[in-house]
Amino acid sequence: MNQSPRNERVDVAVARSIAEIMEAFAIRTLVYMGEQNCPYDEEYDGNDFAAATHLIARVGREPVGVMRLRWFADFCKVERVAVRREHRGGEVAQAMIEAACEIAGRKGYRTILGHIQSHLLPFWRRYGGVSVRSGRPRFFFSDHEYVEVVRTLAPHANALTLDTPAMVLLRPEGAWDEPGVLDRSNERLAPALL
Ligand SMILES: CC(C)(COP(=O)(O)OP(=O)(O)OC[C@H]1O[C@@H](n2cnc3c(N)ncnc32)[C@H](O)[C@@H]1OP(=O)(O)O)[C@@H](O)C(=O)NCCC(=O)NCCS
Repeated sequence: MNQSPRNERVDVAVARSIAEIMEAFAIRTLVYMGEQNCPYDEEYDGNDFAAATHLIARVGREPVGVMRLRWFADFCKVERVAVRREHRGGEVAQAMIEAACEIAGRKGYRTILGHIQSHLLPFWRRYGGVSVRSGRPRFFFSDHEYVEVVRTLAPHANALTLDTPAMVLLRPEGAWDEPGVLDRSNERLAPALL
């Protein structure tokens, strides 16, 4: 939990339903298509449902920020970070960065990769704790210049592994510490089996 520029509580959650995906897409449409004139099919690039996790930052019920995480074998890639203009000032973005690091670390990842717009490097250094990958060229797409940055995570004390209890691995992404719907399904079992 963080405080927004207007001193409001910011909560970050994983999108788990079509309705929540729509919240994420609404923000991306406002920010990337609306502010940055990104063409529709470049913003919605075919990777939204390919091993992707969408984080939504909310103030109350209102979605104010979004971030997409894509999972590769050895690293997590942070993408499509956007905060609605009226909620900018650092706290929303920072809350999403912290949530992304927590989820990636919990999943056992140690490396986060970002392709960031070059002019935002000071922002990413300050709020994202990233460093530029040496020996990697800058590159261009969708009218912007990009640079590769990485953040190395310390090993998570409670990282999920093959030996994590089955019922924990079955819980919804990012909510591994609370009983989930499948835990509750066991209430249907005969008491003798529990
Ligand atoms: C990038 C973004 C998520 C940062 O969220 P935020 O921290 O709440 O937003 P802010 O506007 O307060 O920006 C934070 C810092 O980045 C800088 N910044 C933001 N946009 C910038 C731009 N286009 N060019 C240069 N600097 C920029 C701000 O000046 C600010 O620096 P400061 O702390 O020294 O004042 C938000 O500005 C955004 O949604 N931008 C549009 C989408 C985008 O470009 N995403 C990043 C793709 S790599």
